[in-house]
Formats: sequence, C-alpha cells, structure tokens
Amino acid sequence: MRAVDLIQKKRDGQKLTSNEIKWLVEGYVAGTVPDYQMSAFAMAVYFKGMTTREISDLTMNMVKTGQEFDLSAIEGVKVDKHSTGGVGDKVTLILAPLVASFGVPVAKMSGRGLGHTGGTLDKLEAIKGYQVERSQEDFIRQVQDIGVSVIGQSDQLVKADKLLYALRDVTATVDTIPLIASSVMSKKIAAGADAILLDVTVGEGAFMKTVDEARELAQTMVDLGKAVGRKTVAVITDMSQPLGRAIGNRLEILEALEILQGKGRQDITHFICELAQIMLGLADVEKTIKEIRQHLENGQALAKFEEMVAAQGGDLEDLYRPVKVAHVLEIPAQDTGVISALPAMKFGLYAMRLGAGRAIKSDDLDYETGIVFEKKVGDSVQKGEIVAKVYTNGKISSELVTEFQKYVKINDGVQSLREIIEIIS
Ligand code: URA
Repeated sequence: MRAVDLIQKKRDGQKLTSNEIKWLVEGYVAGTVPDYQMSAFAMAVYFKGMTTREISDLTMNMVKTGQEFDLSAIEGVKVDKHSTGGVGDKVTLILAPLVASFGVPVAKMSGRGLGHTGGTLDKLEAIKGYQVERSQEDFIRQVQDIGVSVIGQSDQLVKADKLLYALRDVTATVDTIPLIASSVMSKKIAAGADAILLDVTVGEGAFMKTVDEARELAQTMVDLGKAVGRKTVAVITDMSQPLGRAIGNRLEILEALEILQGKGRQDITHFICELAQIMLGLADVEKTIKEIRQHLENGQALAKFEEMVAAQGGDLEDLYRPVKVAHVLEIPAQDTGVISALPAMKFGLYAMRLGAGRAIKSDDLDYETGIVFEKKVGDSVQKGEIVAKVYTNGKISSELVTEFQKYVKINDGVQSLREIIEIIS
C-alpha cells in the first residue's frame, strides 16, 4: 500500500477500506507515513468527509495505538465526561466532585488548552502543588479511596491522537466532524469508563458553529460509544459567550470554588446541576436538580473537591488565595441597555494574550491573569457601569480597554441563550 494512493482516493471522494485505514493509522504512529502525507490526508477528510463505517474504523484503530485503561477494579458504574472545547469552561472542576459526592466514581483524564480554548489540566495546575501526572495504579487507588480523580491524559493513551491533533492544529484541520469524533471517542474508549457524557459545544467560541453541525457530531460520537458498549449521552451546549464569569486559570478555580459553595451565578450553577443529573442517570442514580443543588449548598461537593485536591498534592490554604496580578483594569459599559453578545472566541483570544492561554504548545502560562465578567448576555447595564475586570501582569494601555469594549455588544438584539440546547442519547 502507498499513502499517496489513499490520499488520492479520499481526495476524490471515495471510501477507504478498513484495511487501508488500519494501515494508515499504524504507519503514521510507526513513522513510516510522514506528517506531510498525514496532513494531506486530514485535509482530504476535511473536504470529503468519511462514512460512519470509516469513522468507526479510524476510531478503533486509533484506540489500539496506545494503552487501554482497565477500571474494572473500581466498584460501580464509572462515568466520564468530555467537552469539545470552550472558553471559561470550568465545568469538570465542579461536576467531577459533585457527581462523586453521590457515590458515583469519577475517573477522569483531562487535556490542556490551546488557542482560544482553555484546558482543565492547566486550571488544576494553577493550584499550588496539584499533581496531574499519576500512574494508572495511583489513579485507580485514589478513585477507590475517595471516589474521584482528575489527571492528565497519559502519554501512553491513543498515541495516534497525540500526533494527529498536533498536526491538525497547525494545518487548519481541527474543525471537521470525522476527525473530532475519532479524536474524542478514541480517548474516551481507551480511558475505560463504562458511561460517557459528551458536552458538544456550539457557537462563536466552539469548533461547531451551527446546531446542525453540533447535532451531527454529537450523534456520530454517541453511535461510536454505543457500538463499543459504552452508555453515551451528548448534550449540545452554547458556547457563543464564555461560560460563567471567569476566563483564566486561577480565576476559574476561584469561580469553581464559588459554585461549589452554592454561591455561583444561577445560570452556570443550574447548567452544572443538569449535567450532574445526566451523569448520575448514566450510573442509574436518579436525583432531582434540587437534591443535586443541595450538595453544593451543604458543602458535600466542596468537601469532595478539597479531598481530591489534597490527595493529588494540592495546597488547600493556597487554594482560596485571591489572584496576584500587577494591574486590575475595570471595563466600563459604553452604553445603557441590555448586553446582547460577548463573543467567546474574541474573549478567549484576549485572555490568551494576557498569558492565560497558549498560542502555541510551548508557550508558558501566567496562571493569575484573565477576565472576570460582572455582566453576561441578557443582563442590564448602565453606561459607565463595570462590565468586566481584566487581570494582567503586562503593560496596561487604553487599547486594552477599547479593544474589550469593542467586543461587548449592547442592545444589538438580545438572544435568549440556554446553556443546554439539546440532549442526544
Ligand atoms: N477535542 C478533542 O479531544 N479532539 C478534537 O479533535 C477536538 C476537541
């Protein structure tokens, strides 16, 4: 077989056989198919797509390029969760301990952020001492002991995705359904949970820009999960504005603590309770939103979070410390009215330039910097009132304020945003 023939076949819109896909994935990981051919193949997939059978072959062959975690030593139904990426997405930090506080084990591997999107792992590393790298044995033992662990994705897991994701990132081939579905589901299948909740984001700050595209991605991933015997549910969620109040690693930890104490914004708190209800349902634990919310209000979820942080070496005193930055810039509203848009991608990139995110993989992060919104879409605002605060260690200039203000849309026609747009199960 020759890679060039397979690229040409896909370029011309033909289907690849199971054997051809196996050969390509194995060759890529072994280094016999070079990056330049794999990127041409990814671009051909971007334009011509893949059939359900091809996506399934790609996914399962990717799974085989690494270690598969065996979580059978942990009692109960193990539920995992994955988001296709967002801005201000601190959901896992709250959801994992919240679900675990009901006795449902959560063994979760998370990733890092890149570009405008944040990553749970970076947020956890903003906690002094928190270790994201654990052996499989330690990870399993911690879930057996306290019911929850969130660690970094093992280097041994789905090697094909590690290589391919980095390549897609620099060849404009991330945002295509077959490659996102196989990337996400190969990792989830290899990570070994019995049930999977997929958060498929849609909107300006997400890879999927329309609900139709998000629905197709969600259905593709749900089908892949079910085909290998994993209970899988996808929720399509809004990513047209940042999630919650904060963007930035420590700022998001502080917001997560606020929500875990039952003091968060109502919209994000309710959203997380809805996700928890679905995750618990996947483990056959039926709870009302009121019962779930009680675990935020009575401190049970927070206690579980603190237990997890301590078990992974995190410093519980430092956890609650306010951020330390050189400057806090207040952004006043330029008009009176109702906030109608806060484009997630624009603010994700803005926060990235403050040091909260990475433009390229090797960039260092400044864990303290970022944005806290005082107002979100649908909130009323008076001219001159503070819409947000910018936390920076860099140079301050009037452009930082005017650029921010340019993105804040007031009275442009309020969209009624719901966090969960649709559930696909
Ligand atoms: N998240 C992933 O893990 N993979 C993708 O391809 C996109 C989002």
